[in-house]
Amino acid sequence: MDHFLYRDGALYAEDVPISEIAAAVGTPFYVYSTATLLRHFQLFDEALDGTDHLVCYAMKAASNQAILKTLAEAGAGMDVVSGGEYLRAKAAGVPGDKIVFSGVGKTAEEIRTALTGGIRQFNVESEPEMEVINAVALDLGVVAPITVRVNPDVDAKTHAKIATGKSENKFGIPIARASEVYAHAASLPGLKVIGIDVHIGSQLTELEPFALAYQKVAELTETLRSEGHNIRRLDLGGGLGIPYARSNDAPPLPLEYGALIKDTLGHLGCEIEIEPGRLIAGNAGLMVSKVIYVKSGEGRDFLILDGAMNDLIRPAMYEAYHDIVPVIEPVPGTEQQPYDIVGPVCESGDTFAKQRQMPPLGAGDLVAFRSAGAYGAVMSSEYNTRPLIPEVLVHGDQFAVIRERPSFDEIINRDTIPEWL
Ligand code: LLP
Repeated sequence: MDHFLYRDGALYAEDVPISEIAAAVGTPFYVYSTATLLRHFQLFDEALDGTDHLVCYAMKAASNQAILKTLAEAGAGMDVVSGGEYLRAKAAGVPGDKIVFSGVGKTAEEIRTALTGGIRQFNVESEPEMEVINAVALDLGVVAPITVRVNPDVDAKTHAKIATGKSENKFGIPIARASEVYAHAASLPGLKVIGIDVHIGSQLTELEPFALAYQKVAELTETLRSEGHNIRRLDLGGGLGIPYARSNDAPPLPLEYGALIKDTLGHLGCEIEIEPGRLIAGNAGLMVSKVIYVKSGEGRDFLILDGAMNDLIRPAMYEAYHDIVPVIEPVPGTEQQPYDIVGPVCESGDTFAKQRQMPPLGAGDLVAFRSAGAYGAVMSSEYNTRPLIPEVLVHGDQFAVIRERPSFDEIINRDTIPEWL
């Protein structure tokens, strides 16, 4: 469910017409709904009702501080994967004891930043990383709380580029080696082992892979406890998928996911953490773009938009499908026609959709990409010297620009020319 609906023939974000935002900030832009962000966070929070838990938003999905602050004020913790994300979460007011640090390549500097500023736990991905965290902690005279991320060798049944729980993936330690690795961790004085972490992939549309992974985590909890480890926190990662096309079957609901967690792990009495990103932010954001030209090609018409692959890379990178809807609602009965919907970037990969059925559109018309709130703005680039597009947050009948469009001067002046030129 989201808060982007047609009203009186025009698309709204909550109580604000999209066309009003477009007139104020220009196109293209991202727009997020506060109500949708909060609703999705609350669905997870309620799904884990009755268990000691913390929903740590995977801020890699959409990391604008206004979004982080919105969620943090509702009680969310954060899952960060870099020193930059850590500092950004802190800047948005998230306390260190609600920040978990994931990722396979944490550097000593990043670890130091987090240990200095306060951290809930590191989700450790390898023995070399464990040694570095131990060394930095001892140097600072602190003890670092850790879980170890285990790789359960489960097929998440999602796009290969975002599956992370198979043995061939770079993530976690093989679950079969867990006893050995936990014994190693327990021997390091700068570390305090508090739990287990697992994350098997993103955009999962079935519960079964979660069930397989969580059962393995349940067994491992018992084994490690019998070996003397005080396992009291389980970080279960993120990954629950969202409906990208309204015609598709909807993925399982957070409530069903929460019930699965309670069924498979509830008896262990552990504190539960989850790290959802996409389900919180994905359908809480649109990318709005304008048609520059309608071009007749050989046997096809192209809608050439002012938004491009550098603004929303998911279709080019993962062959991802996004619903694209006109901002002016077509009158019922309008005949649709197929378009190839493309951006202005100079490569054929800059294609959002091929032969997509749309109502007839012309230059100047606005279209909205649905489900663009997660892995949209955060994955954008300035390829072709195209400025990063603004982000706007709506709250009821108010909206605010939460990231400005940079000027060309700002972009160009970042370059420095060496003195020999
Ligand atoms: N926790 C960890 C350790 C992760 O690696 C991820 C996502 C999450 C949580 C959040 O997963 P989510 O709930 O959002 O599925 N750029 C890709 C998605 C990459 C996901 C990376 N890791 C895309 O646009 O589909």
